[in-house]
Amino acid sequence: MYVFKVLLLLLMSFRLSETARYSDQLKLVSYLFNNSRYDRRFRPVINLDSLTELSVHVDSGNSIEILEESQIMKTDVWLTMKWSDALLKWNSSNYGGLSQIRLKVSDVWYPDMAIKFAVGKSKLFSDDFNVIITYDGTVEIVIMTDLKVRCILDIMKFPFDEQSCVFYLSALNANRQELLITNSTVGVKDVGGGQWKILSIKSAKFLVSNIDMLNVTINVKRHPSFYIIYIVVPLIATAQINPVVFLIPPNSGEKVSTAVTILLSYSVYLNIISSVLPQTSDSISILSLYIASVLVLSGIYTFLCVLIVRLSTIENEKSTNIRKIPPSLIDLICFIIFTILITAFTISILMFICF
Ligand SMILES: *[C@@H]1O[C@H](CO)[C@@H](O)[C@H](O)[C@H]1NC(C)=O
Ligand SMILES: *[C@@H]1O[C@H](CO)[C@@H](O)[C@H](O)[C@H]1NC(C)=O
Ligand SMILES: *[C@@H]1O[C@H](CO)[C@@H](O)[C@H](O)[C@H]1NC(C)=O
Ligand SMILES: *[C@@H]1O[C@H](CO)[C@@H](O)[C@H](O)[C@H]1NC(C)=O
Repeated sequence: MYVFKVLLLLLMSFRLSETARYSDQLKLVSYLFNNSRYDRRFRPVINLDSLTELSVHVDSGNSIEILEESQIMKTDVWLTMKWSDALLKWNSSNYGGLSQIRLKVSDVWYPDMAIKFAVGKSKLFSDDFNVIITYDGTVEIVIMTDLKVRCILDIMKFPFDEQSCVFYLSALNANRQELLITNSTVGVKDVGGGQWKILSIKSAKFLVSNIDMLNVTINVKRHPSFYIIYIVVPLIATAQINPVVFLIPPNSGEKVSTAVTILLSYSVYLNIISSVLPQTSDSISILSLYIASVLVLSGIYTFLCVLIVRLSTIENEKSTNIRKIPPSLIDLICFIIFTILITAFTISILMFICF
């Protein structure tokens, strides 16, 4: 009796550890893809009115690049899709325990998902991708691709801006009565990062006419340090020291030329900013408004400096008591008023764009 049990156990463990053979694969494939059984042109369901269920998982890489001038976002995505194929089912114990096979996507029917409103290629599937088919009829594919999608940028708070870009996924070969997106999840894959930090990514399903669509929204925030160091800090420093032109003595001969030099430097900043930002945009960056304002202020300083120099020349010529207010006092008053003005203006602009 004991020997019998041991034998049985041995026999069972032999059954369990049975490995699939090459011929099992051939047998399985010729069973599954028998022409009178499976045709990849038709949606694989037993009854034509039953739905094919699809679950989509979208991972976005965190190295996001946004081309501001053309309002395009570039990212890498990993799309994992699983759908149910009612015909690709088998009993694995009839095929030496074979429970999964890997085939080309061109061998089976697939929901032809595409990215809508993308720049460049929109099709995701290519015939030479691999799919993994499990004995219960689940077909799984992982598609890795880089993606360019259009974004409407809101650059008002540049370089402290947050952007939100969206892309849409839908099937080209099935409508709502045929394909149902049951489960859509999203995630972020760490691939090194970049100028943008992903704040959130979410997906939502909605119906457009008769097609199940999925929208994936990626919210990103700019790492502003580059622009702070190269634009914001030098710009604010220039704007702050600009009223100093009033402290230069009128007879030194440098007063007006210094004012004009600083005036010209703002157009350089404007140039840099406009090369970074989108050419046509619904929103205007507060930073460029700031540059334009300090440029106008700087023009006013230059005008006042010319007046003051002229005034002091008249003073020297006549050297009488026609003028009651000495030019140096006007200089000092201008310096104080404009320093207070520009400081208050700068602080309020900074508060606005940072928060
Ligand atoms: C395909 O299926 C038909 C009908 O079930 C059967 O007669 C035929 O032998 C099968 N062919 C192969 C290659 O298995
Ligand atoms: C699979 O096949 C084995 C052996 O032919 C059988 O015992 C088992 O009941 C089958 N399983 C299913 C789910 O059909
Ligand atoms: C959706 O998919 C995720 C990941 O594949 C899984 O963990 C989750 O259970 C699924 N949810 C539903 C409702 O099927
Ligand atoms: C995405 O779809 C959801 C659900 O219909 C909708 O509320 C949301 O506004 C959509 N987002 C975009 C950017 O279209």
